[in-house]
Amino acid sequence: MIVLRAMHAGDIAQVMQMAATLPEAPHWPLSAWGQILAGEGSPLRIALVAEVLVAEVSAAVVGVAIASVVLEVAELESIAVATQWQRHGVGGRLLKELIAHCAQAGAQRMTLEVRASNLAAQALYRAQQFAVMRRRQGYYRDPPEDAVVMERLLG
Ligand SMILES: CC(C)(COP(=O)(O)OP(=O)(O)OC[C@H]1O[C@@H](n2cnc3c(N)ncnc32)[C@H](O)[C@@H]1OP(=O)(O)O)[C@@H](O)C(=O)NCCC(=O)NCCS
Repeated sequence: MIVLRAMHAGDIAQVMQMAATLPEAPHWPLSAWGQILAGEGSPLRIALVAEVLVAEVSAAVVGVAIASVVLEVAELESIAVATQWQRHGVGGRLLKELIAHCAQAGAQRMTLEVRASNLAAQALYRAQQFAVMRRRQGYYRDPPEDAVVMERLLG
């Protein structure tokens, strides 16, 4: 069974381990994760994990999604699902739940940037009613690539 819940400090090690296996996942240092979860400074951050429960005794984090909220605008900062759990609906569930939390926090729209070559993520976003707004040339480095900016209204 997969459950979604707020990410807490005890998840950081598992999330970093999972992210290390995914080139498109966030590769933030431990201190950055700590700051996000401590709710230090602004913007407001909402961080969720997807956890697989085995016989309700052991648990493993298999997905993470994080958004920031500044007034009426939420930004999807990151979403990632462990390779062996992809295409099982986890990313879709995480994004839907994150959107609901952001709307509750007062956001009226959500925006995001995604590598032009990341067609899997773009398909996920389109399936959740995000539309392409524009392209930012040379936005990414290592390797250099354009970003596609996508957006949707919330609520
Ligand atoms: C993008 C990502 C989070 C999707 O997570 P997921 O759990 O596999 O997504 P879901 O199973 O919920 O898929 C929902 C829908 O998105 C689309 N989709 C997801 N992955 C896809 C793929 N590889 N190819 C085409 N469509 C895809 C489909 O429409 C899918 O619905 P379907 O399975 O009924 O066809 C996952 O591929 C991932 O972690 N990638 C690496 C990290 C990353 O790229 N993050 C985004 C950075 S901007």
